[in-house]
Amino acid sequence: MQDPSLSAVIKPEVRGLNAYTLKHFDADVKLDQNENPYELPLDIKREVVDRVLRRPWARYPEFVPAAVISTLSKFTGWTQEGILVGNGSNELIQASLNVSLGPGRRCAMPQPTFTLYKLMATTLQAEVMPVFLDSENLTFNVDKLIEASRRADVVVVCSPNNPTGGLLEREALIALLKNAKGLVLLDEAYHEFSGQTALPLLSEHRHLIVLRTFSKAMSMAGLRFGYMMAHPEIAREVYKSKLPYNVNIFTLAAAEIVIENRSALNRGIDALIRERDRVFAELERREAVRAFPSKANFILIRTARPARELFDGLYSHGVLVRDVSAYPLLDRCLRVSIGTPEENDRFLAALDRVLETN
Ligand SMILES: Cc1ncc(COP(=O)(O)O)c(C=O)c1O
Repeated sequence: MQDPSLSAVIKPEVRGLNAYTLKHFDADVKLDQNENPYELPLDIKREVVDRVLRRPWARYPEFVPAAVISTLSKFTGWTQEGILVGNGSNELIQASLNVSLGPGRRCAMPQPTFTLYKLMATTLQAEVMPVFLDSENLTFNVDKLIEASRRADVVVVCSPNNPTGGLLEREALIALLKNAKGLVLLDEAYHEFSGQTALPLLSEHRHLIVLRTFSKAMSMAGLRFGYMMAHPEIAREVYKSKLPYNVNIFTLAAAEIVIENRSALNRGIDALIRERDRVFAELERREAVRAFPSKANFILIRTARPARELFDGLYSHGVLVRDVSAYPLLDRCLRVSIGTPEENDRFLAALDRVLETN
């Protein structure tokens, strides 16, 4: 029986949503969350622990974590006044949308894309304007995106796009920025694997927000850290919606030390890019598989089999991937994160075994 009090207290838009959640599976080969398979070096982890041990745990972090913001500013070349840090970039996506969306406002976004944008925009009672990817190649429909951006208060674009892997080319982004009437939120969660960033465009476009995470290339998904860069005027407004003391002292220390040691991560990132290209070439050789070109650390594939069947088959061989077949346009699709060469070989071997069987 429906509880009448629930519909009275919860917004109808929220009641109509499915929560963003992921069932937990244990697996030998975990290729379902686009994490970095390479752990941070032990000496870096030790340095983090040592630094945190020297700090009082009974005291709040600084209100504005100046040290990490200054380190990020040096690393990116972007002004400190235009940088906000978050407990994961998800939190900053939410803060940005909180200050820009509400009833009567519109949020344009490509579809399919990262689920959270629609979830948050809908929770805020904004109208979501989906701009579908090209249904054959799953690439961005730039003309339609630009058209929508002229009527939207916010455009959210994830580039490279999760879960398809395609990049919004620089020229297309510039055209989008020239036409958009509102904010352009560019989620660069996977930019390290793409060789492209919108950072140089920030100074000329005060309605651009660039979001980044330490959960992917930076090997810190377990510690939750992300940052955003925008014109200081915009950052000041988003700041109003960010919770105080949102990043804990452990994560702050880790982020700072990891940026200082960024070059130690380069080998792993280069290896993942090489592996992505190798796995893609391997997949292309298989007639039963359609692989979509990716500039991220994952590849979207489609086969003739129902996605659930393929997912279960791979899982029975110890390989966990993501079933994304419920997303718009992604019937029979799975998303596979790039792991170590051994993990990728296990995925390819399992895929062959599963596709062999009827
Ligand atoms: C496009 C995109 N943005 C943001 C995130 C989340 O980042 P964080 O872990 O920093 O909250 C993800 C994680 O899957 C993602 O795919």
